[in-house]
Amino acid sequence: MKSESIHPAKALSGGVELPGDKSISHRYAMLAALADGTSELRNFAAARDCHSTLGCLKSLGAEIKVNGSTVQITGHGLHGLKSSWRTLDAENSGTTIRLMSGILSGQSFTTKITGDGSLQKRPMKRVITPLREMGAKIHGRDDNFPPLEIQGGKLRAIHYEMPMASAQVKSAVLLAGLYADGETSITEPAATRDHTELALQAFDVPIRKQARTVSLQGASNGHVIKLRPVSLDIPGDLSSAVFFIAAASLLSESNLYIGNVGLNPTRSAILDFFQQMGARVTVTHLQGTTGELVGDLSVKGASLKGGVVAGDLVPLLIDELPMLAALGPFTEQGIEIRDAGELRVKESDRIAALAENLKRMGAKVEERPDGLRVEGRTAGPVHGAEIDPRGDHRIAMAFAVAGLAAQGEMRILDPACAGVSYPNFFSELRRLAES
Ligand code: S3P
Repeated sequence: MKSESIHPAKALSGGVELPGDKSISHRYAMLAALADGTSELRNFAAARDCHSTLGCLKSLGAEIKVNGSTVQITGHGLHGLKSSWRTLDAENSGTTIRLMSGILSGQSFTTKITGDGSLQKRPMKRVITPLREMGAKIHGRDDNFPPLEIQGGKLRAIHYEMPMASAQVKSAVLLAGLYADGETSITEPAATRDHTELALQAFDVPIRKQARTVSLQGASNGHVIKLRPVSLDIPGDLSSAVFFIAAASLLSESNLYIGNVGLNPTRSAILDFFQQMGARVTVTHLQGTTGELVGDLSVKGASLKGGVVAGDLVPLLIDELPMLAALGPFTEQGIEIRDAGELRVKESDRIAALAENLKRMGAKVEERPDGLRVEGRTAGPVHGAEIDPRGDHRIAMAFAVAGLAAQGEMRILDPACAGVSYPNFFSELRRLAES
């Protein structure tokens, strides 16, 4: 198996710009395929996941031209998708299959959608339940897992009290709501990323928001919905930036500049957490573009205190938890993660993957059903090891960063899995690291 060797470094310095945000790219691509006309999306995510979304949309008849990081998508209106004779392939992407399920529920045809081995183990009942309530007929393996067969049709508007804090579930219901007869609304138990709400507004679909409830009016009963094509730049992915923020913070002589990063407040809790840990991260040139905030970051080396992530904070930095846990052994008080059982059903069982690989490095870790506790510097130094990321991009990248500060050589197996969100991660890390 191929591997990537990481050696200790003394600084992460220079400048970097990141490929477009993965969550935003998925949403803009899907809505562009439902719009009337051609949208141009610049700095579209390089992430393999977002290209899985493009593949699904192409199979449904959207015209898509990819030119470097610029993607042009021509849609033929809300009812312009065509049935696909082939099964759609969401590959490794939970966002693709869950959000597309919402759109497919509103179509007048039946579609099959599946994914790779990891995706076939991820729970879909969370979207099947509300979409069935709206009138879609959905079959899945064990009524929960892909492949899904979705027979769309006329949908009824519902009010859905979401049992879990999931932006993917919220988005699936909102997208189905575009096709429903009346006002669909969702109340979430804790705030989650609001890119779908902002994207709908960018495409000219009105949204109502009141506290934790978001609503939209569907297209049935004489109410016309026309999505207006957009031409816009997608902000750099903060969840990718976090690996560089962590690496630069760990290495005392770092001086890193990260340009054009998405700083949506439902995603940026991770920056507050880094600052609370003592990280030296500053935001400059903050500006808004079509509802999304964008800014530049500068990061210098610091001594990190560590801390606890729990409760309502968890959904706001869910994708950053692998990096935080892998930082644990280098912090003063260690890192503790609670209330994050969701991590067990991500691209891998991230709690198990983190605990196993941290132990390989000699870290002191307690694995718990809903999180883990990683002891800090006082538990002794950690060393490089062979890391098995279990095919999970964020595990691979988190341990690559840890390898810059551990003793000896770190070997990351299957480094290509990073491509699910950030294909050039390892070459960028090598370019910025100074030994
Ligand atoms: C995402 C939502 C989160 C996140 C995932 C992307 C999205 O998942 O972990 O990487 O784009 O909506 P959940 O909605 O399952 O929490």
